[in-house]
Amino acid sequence: MSRIVYVNAEFVPEAEARVSVFDRGFLMADGVYEVTSVLGGKLIDFAGHVARLERSLKELDMAMPMSAEALLAVHRELVARNEVIDGSVYLQITRGSSGDRDFVFPDPGVTPQTVVMFTQSKLGMAETPLARTGIRVISIDDIRWHRRDIKTVQLLYPSMGKMMAKAAGCDDAWLVEDGMVTEGTSNNAYIVRGNTIITRQLGNDILHGITRAAVLRFAREAQMTVEERPFTIAEAQAADEAFITSASMFVMPVVEIDGAKVGTGKPGALTARLREIYLDESRKAAI
Ligand code: PDD
Repeated sequence: MSRIVYVNAEFVPEAEARVSVFDRGFLMADGVYEVTSVLGGKLIDFAGHVARLERSLKELDMAMPMSAEALLAVHRELVARNEVIDGSVYLQITRGSSGDRDFVFPDPGVTPQTVVMFTQSKLGMAETPLARTGIRVISIDDIRWHRRDIKTVQLLYPSMGKMMAKAAGCDDAWLVEDGMVTEGTSNNAYIVRGNTIITRQLGNDILHGITRAAVLRFAREAQMTVEERPFTIAEAQAADEAFITSASMFVMPVVEIDGAKVGTGKPGALTARLREIYLDESRKAAI
């Protein structure tokens, strides 16, 4: 089915959507994005995604293109027009096109931002069989820039990381810097010891996951202990359980790291419980 996408205040068939070849998103990766999940036709954690979008834009001296309410209206309209039941809405805002290539930022008063949104349908994505088998990860060096807290569209290295994982017969990669895991290529990383969940603390080294914030809140409410600190691959391999979180994977068990089984090599009980709580609570709060 051909999608209706949103480009600069217009809803158009995807084949008719146009962005300039001089767009700074295309030439310089000068843009930010968000991915908001849709379950049962409703948006998951929309407020969190908008808050992070606003922060990413501010860190790059860019303004919000429209109010949170207007963004919500466009998200909802896209979900409705494309009849999305389960899936996601992708949003990207770039510094626009000044009509030429130039390292210097254009004057925002003269050059409008480019705002693009589109949907991706994935019916039944919360029931993926992957959650019952878990995923296998490899570790790779984290050679990304040092503002990973800004959700920019510079995704070449994460993309290369997924290809390295694929070449190794695995599903994804965990990034390691100074001997410590930062995060996954497109998700936050966690290990479990007993009733304790361990995940790296927030800072410039990782993306401040919206799913992470919700999952840690639910974990604390369920009397689990949360320790926000870095961990090594060796500690992860020796942990009882491991998992990742993201808007598209929710809570996903990790059963193997660099060829070593985590725990029994099967998804752990705490991870399964957290996934269930997260999905239940998120569906209830969806808008
Ligand atoms: N990725 N860390 C990185 C590097 C990410 O790219 C993402 C999200 C996350 C998890 O953030 P959240 O829980 O807010 O989705 C952590 C999205 C899903 C993507 O690029 O498709």
